[in-house]
Amino acid sequence: MEFSHVSVLADEVIENLNIKPDGIYVDLTLGKGGHSKRILQKLSSKGKLIGLDQDAEAIKASKENLKDFSNVLYFQSNFENIDEVLQSIAIEKVDGFLMDIGVSSYQIDNAERGFSYMHDGPLDMRMDTSNELTAEKIINEYSQDELSEIFSKYGEERFSKTIARNIVEYRKKQRIDTTFKLRDIINHSVKSKEAHPEKRVFQALRIKVNRELDVLENTIEKAVDQLNVDGRLCIITFHSLEDRIVKNKFKDLEKDCICPPDFPVCVCGKVSKIKIITNKPIVASKKEQKENSRSKSAKLRVCQRI
Ligand SMILES: C[S@@+](CC[C@H](N)C(=O)[O-])C[C@H]1O[C@@H](n2cnc3c(N)ncnc32)[C@H](O)[C@@H]1O
Repeated sequence: MEFSHVSVLADEVIENLNIKPDGIYVDLTLGKGGHSKRILQKLSSKGKLIGLDQDAEAIKASKENLKDFSNVLYFQSNFENIDEVLQSIAIEKVDGFLMDIGVSSYQIDNAERGFSYMHDGPLDMRMDTSNELTAEKIINEYSQDELSEIFSKYGEERFSKTIARNIVEYRKKQRIDTTFKLRDIINHSVKSKEAHPEKRVFQALRIKVNRELDVLENTIEKAVDQLNVDGRLCIITFHSLEDRIVKNKFKDLEKDCICPPDFPVCVCGKVSKIKIITNKPIVASKKEQKENSRSKSAKLRVCQRI
């Protein structure tokens, strides 16, 4: 299957990264390398791009897509290990980071990866297929309360309790091992006229399987700490749970001393690390939204190291 993916907000990312031709840039979510190619086109031969993806197939596809560039280093790794990756190549500071989080169109469209309710496939959902936890394991082995909590916390699903109860009933008879079996259970549990009532549970499972919110939260400050002064961090998110984490983390990193106002001297020692560049997130133009429906929910937030 061909690895297809259209990069979102690509012009906006390039503009906001403020690329220096001889600088070092890190694409934390390479995918097919669409954004990386645009970055590489702005770099001189002295500049460097470091690309990470936890999905082996993405690494393979980006190597092919970027084969004309010699100044790229590839790492198959979760971006939460960015400090160790940079340490392994003796790089202390870089000039910019990009995160374009979530899944690529290739991952969604490939039935075998089990991300989509539109294709029948194994209930997998792992971006890194060497990890042990799959969606199938969660659906068949977690308790009713745990399932309900996952659907409600990561999917904001109103019918989480009913869906969890029906899953537990169904699995007494047979294992729920495909995306369509799960989709059908959800559709029977939710009385709704919306097109795809199963989308929130699928989102919740994907987040849980890949620890998506935890790794995002853990990585933002690590990236900021490894930026040169004036270097930028650009983050594209696709749903409100992720965007809220980015917004709040940026606010926290921008804040100076947080001692109570009546303290004569600062005892907390907190200093501001960044300036927020985007008070409101950048969204896709009407034209881009028309051409690429995935871009409709995309939000880009940018901060700069001070
Ligand atoms: C939306 S795609 C990126 C597309 C890319 N910007 C492009 O233009 O082709 C997201 C990619 O990030 C990867 N990814 C998501 N979370 C990750 C994480 N925590 N660590 C490493 N890679 C991750 C996914 O495997 C996927 O390939």
